[in-house]
Amino acid sequence: MKILLLNGSHRTGGNTETLLSVMKTGFEKQGLETELISLATLSVEHCQVCDSCKGKSTCRITDDFGAILEKISVSDALIIGTPVYVGMPSSRLAALIQRLTYLALLNGHLLKDKIGCAVVVAGEAGHLTALNSLLDFFLVNEMTVPGSRYWPVGTASKKGEILNDTAAIENVKYLSGKIAKLLKTGGAR
Ligand SMILES: Cc1cc2nc3c(=O)[nH]c(=O)nc-3n(C[C@H](O)[C@H](O)[C@H](O)COP(=O)(O)O)c2cc1C
Repeated sequence: MKILLLNGSHRTGGNTETLLSVMKTGFEKQGLETELISLATLSVEHCQVCDSCKGKSTCRITDDFGAILEKISVSDALIIGTPVYVGMPSSRLAALIQRLTYLALLNGHLLKDKIGCAVVVAGEAGHLTALNSLLDFFLVNEMTVPGSRYWPVGTASKKGEILNDTAAIENVKYLSGKIAKLLKTGGAR
C-alpha cells in the first residue's frame, strides 16, 4: 500500500508540510509506504484544454505534471495539504488538480476508488472554503473520502507555528490512523 502526500504550499518547510509530515510519520508507524512531494519545488503549468490527453492518459506539456501523475497512479491514497491563499487552495495546487481532473475524466476516471484526503492550514480564516474545494475534487473523481471526528484544519502563520495548534496535530494523527485502517482492511471497522 502506497500513500502520496502532496504539499500545495508555495514554500517548503512551512506549516502545511509539517502537518503532512505528522501524517506521514503516522502512516510509516503502520508499515505503509509513503512519499511527500512539494509543489513549491515543481513546475506545473495550467491546463490548455487542448484535449490531447484524450485516450492517451498523458499530457503534452513538458513539465513536472507527468512525474506527479505517475506517482499518483501508483498510489492507493492521495493526501493533499494546502495553505489558504485568499480563501482558496494554492494556485499551484489548483493548476494541478484542474489538469489532473480533466485528464482523469477523459480517460475513464483514472483516480476512481483511491482514497482522497485534504488538510488545510490558514493564518486566520478560510479553512473550510479551501477544504471544500478539495473535497469537490475528490468526489468528482469518484475517490473515497474518509470522514473524521473534526475537520483536518489548522491555524498558523509563521513557519513552525502549526506545532502550537495541538488540536490540529491530534486530528491529523487520528485521521492518518483511520486512513491506514481503511487501506489495510478495506473498511474502517
Ligand atoms: C498569498 C497569501 C494569501 C494568504 N491568504 C490567507 C487567507 O485568505 N486567510 C488566512 O487565514 N491566511 C492566509 N494566508 C496565510 C497562510 O495561509 C498561512 O501563513 C499558512 O500557515 C501558510 O502555510 P505554509 O506555512 O505551509 O506556507 C495567506 C498567505 C499568503 C502567502
